[in-house]
Amino acid sequence: MAGTTAPAARSCPARFITNVEMSSGLIRLDCELDAPLPFRPGQFAMLNLADGLPLVFSRPFSILAGDGTTLSFLYRVVGRGTAALARLKPGQGLTVLGPLGRPFPTPDELEGRPAVLIGGGVGLPPVHAWFARHGRDGDTAFFGGRDGADVPWSMLDARWGVSVDRAVDVPADREAFAGVVTELVASRGDLADGRTRAVLACGPIPLLRAAARLAAARGWDCWVSLEEHMGCGYGVCKGCVVPVATAGPDGWRNATCCDEGPVFRADQIRWDRYGVPVLPTT
Ligand SMILES: Cc1cc2nc3c(=O)[nH]c(=O)nc-3n(C[C@H](O)[C@H](O)[C@H](O)COP(=O)(O)OP(=O)(O)OC[C@H]3O[C@@H](n4cnc5c(N)ncnc54)[C@H](O)[C@@H]3O)c2cc1C
Ligand code: FES
Repeated sequence: MAGTTAPAARSCPARFITNVEMSSGLIRLDCELDAPLPFRPGQFAMLNLADGLPLVFSRPFSILAGDGTTLSFLYRVVGRGTAALARLKPGQGLTVLGPLGRPFPTPDELEGRPAVLIGGGVGLPPVHAWFARHGRDGDTAFFGGRDGADVPWSMLDARWGVSVDRAVDVPADREAFAGVVTELVASRGDLADGRTRAVLACGPIPLLRAAARLAAARGWDCWVSLEEHMGCGYGVCKGCVVPVATAGPDGWRNATCCDEGPVFRADQIRWDRYGVPVLPTT
């Protein structure tokens, strides 16, 4: 079972070090804490500016890497909070609450099955963290981007398979499959050797659905990391629910993504109910 021995969360003051542009859309943020923050790949942290403005609510981000007291994240600017992160100046204060949530399973928890890691866009951090920490011979990793300019090439060594929706701006010395990343995984002959594997995926919902279908078709287990809007990050506000299967009469219930996830077994998710508004019955 994933997440049974995840490190405990704490609220840490941090100092912003730098934002590094890794691709046309992805920025790596490094910050410095007073002490190292142990985490397991798949866990996340709630980030805010130390003065609390302009963000009322902290925002959730997967932890990309921890090197001593330096903690790194990878993000895309999509709104007010991420724009504020992109404007930070060296030395400015941040608050980091983490590590939060259930992580991806470790190799021991996969019981020897090779991992097939799939990251799409800003879904890269948790699978990158897993591959960096646990990756062994036999594990394979894939990244899907919009086009060659969107791909953070310097983060992906030759072991990574890369796909792009539009085959433009791909560096001459790199290769990219034209199509969606799950098609790239399906096309790989070395993964069709009959060996049982485990998929660990993070990215947009269509990618996660496709990864779950691919895994089910091959008889592989699959874990997905879900991204929901989060208010608190630790199970109190109930703003992050996702539908999971149960044995009860309705066949499903709402699970909090922040503390029951964000990593779930794909066969636990009621994909047919995902994103469907819950209407009153009376
Ligand atoms: C567990 C977890 C891990 C995450 N890891 C990363 C990461 O590593 N890198 C990264 O860039 N982002 C990550 N996200 C998404 C990130 O939290 C949002 O992009 C961020 O909160 C947006 O804040 P904002 O103020 O810039 O945007 P807002 O102004 O709040 O919203 C701008 C747009 O982004 C959408 N949005 C906001 N929050 C989310 C969300 N949680 N999921 C999907 N869409 C959202 C809104 O609907 C809106 O369209 C993660 C989310 C979760 C739950
Ligand atoms: S974010 Fe508050 S319960 Fe999940």
